[in-house]
Formats: sequence, C-alpha cells, structure tokens
Amino acid sequence: MSNKQTEIFFQIYQNIPRQGPGNFESTKNAFLKMIDLPEHPKILDIGCGTGMQTLDLASLTNGKIFAVDNHPVYVDELKQKVLQKGFSDKIAVINADMSALNFPHTTFDIIWTEGAIYIIGFENGLKQWRPLLKQGGYLAASELTWLKPHPPSELKEFWHVGYPAMQSIEGNLQIIRNSEYKIIDYFVLPESAWWNYYYHPLAERVQLLKRHYQDDAEALEVVNMTQSEIDLYQRYSEYYGYVFYIVQKFLN
Ligand SMILES: C[S@@+](CC[C@H](N)C(=O)[O-])C[C@H]1O[C@@H](n2cnc3c(N)ncnc32)[C@H](O)[C@@H]1O
Repeated sequence: MSNKQTEIFFQIYQNIPRQGPGNFESTKNAFLKMIDLPEHPKILDIGCGTGMQTLDLASLTNGKIFAVDNHPVYVDELKQKVLQKGFSDKIAVINADMSALNFPHTTFDIIWTEGAIYIIGFENGLKQWRPLLKQGGYLAASELTWLKPHPPSELKEFWHVGYPAMQSIEGNLQIIRNSEYKIIDYFVLPESAWWNYYYHPLAERVQLLKRHYQDDAEALEVVNMTQSEIDLYQRYSEYYGYVFYIVQKFLN
C-alpha cells in the first residue's frame, strides 16, 4: 500500500465502533471461561483499537487493564473514552508495538486480544507473549479461522492474499498445544458480531467514500477492497469466521 492508500484505509475505519468483528456477549462469554481469577486481575489488552472490548472488559472485572495499540489516533480516542467513563483507575492506554512489549515477565493474569494476534501471527503471538503471563494465567484471542474445508476459489484466493496463514480450528488447537498452553474452550463468534458494530457501519462508509473518490483510482482500490471483503462474508460466511480461543499457561 502507498502512503496515500494507508491514509484512505484509516479514513475508511475512522469512527467505526470496532476495528474487527466482536460484541459484548462474546467478550463476556470468553471472560467467564476463566475461573479462579484473583480479585483484581491484571489484564493486558493487545491491539485494543478504539477499545470497545476494553470498556466491556472493564465492566466485567475489578481488575486493572493495560490496553495497547500502536495507532496513535486509536490510542487517543480510547484515552478520551476512558476519561469520559471515569475508568482512569481501571484502564491505562499505552501506545506500543505488540511485538516489542516492555513489561516484566509474569506480570499478567490475563492476556486479551480481539482480532489482533494475526498481526504478528497466531503461533508467534502465543509464544512471544507467554512469558508475560503468570503461571496459570489465561490468554483469550479471537482469530479469523476456516470453519469448513474446500472454500470456493474466489474466497480462497482473497484470503490467500489477505491472510495466507489462516488455519482451521483444528490447526489452531494444534498450534496452542505446541505452544505450551492448555485449551480451556473455544467458540465461533455469531454472525451478528461481524455485522452490528463492524461490517454494517463499514459498508455505509464505503458507499460514501466510493462517491467521494469516484475519480481517484488509487483511493478507490482500497475502498473497493473493503467492499469485496464485506461481499465475500455476505456470500460465504459458513466457510470462515472469528473463533475465540481461551487457553491457559501450563502449570509446571
Ligand atoms: C483488527 S483491529 C482490532 C481492534 C480491536 N481489538 C477490536 O476488536 O475492535 C487490530 C488492531 O491492532 C492494532 N495494531 C496493528 N499493528 C499493531 C502493532 N504492531 N502493535 C500494536 N497494535 C497494532 C491496529 O491499530 C488495530 O487497532
């Protein structure tokens, strides 16, 4: 992507409630799988974006959340929300790179990451972040996953370019076992978690920007790419989805 296209990309996502599929019920469902937590767990939310799940988590726990993202605009937006909601004691928002996190080992009871682990790779994330967890600490990650074999070729080709490392559920469970975690549970996010806070508002934005950039081929390329992604999900959602994986660092 050129610099201009990166700008267009962020314009598409500006003020969309989320930057990936998810909803409160899924965040809650994953959180409730974690038993025997301390009264005030320390939670690291990686790739928090504008923080819908960060704020949802804050409503579910008495713990302290460290929300990390490397996009300054998202970080500032979440900082504002935290102030407005009076969550300053509960949530610290930090501008940092997920592949160079500067926390001491065994700091966290929970690592949370919705729609963001793919950025450094599912396996890489599980392995790199493991030392940050206490023994018996949990990691909850939602990850784009193949749900059915033999996807239609246009779908396969799109994701072969967009996310070639995408695995089946069984593929990811194997990665989890190889990375020295115990599988606690996993579930597929409902389709409404894609539409309500993500693809519906994104589709409206795309329509607007298509008109705005009608004579600008470079910008339109990015806008049309987002449209194609939404169209493919509309047609082929049975083949892939977001899966929440809840795992626990081995007690050894
Ligand atoms: C798909 S969005 C998910 C955001 C949010 N968790 C949600 O579900 O709405 C991925 C997020 O990861 C952030 N990100 C991308 N690369 C990153 C990096 N190297 N370090 C930290 N955050 C990163 C992006 O800015 C974006 O907010």
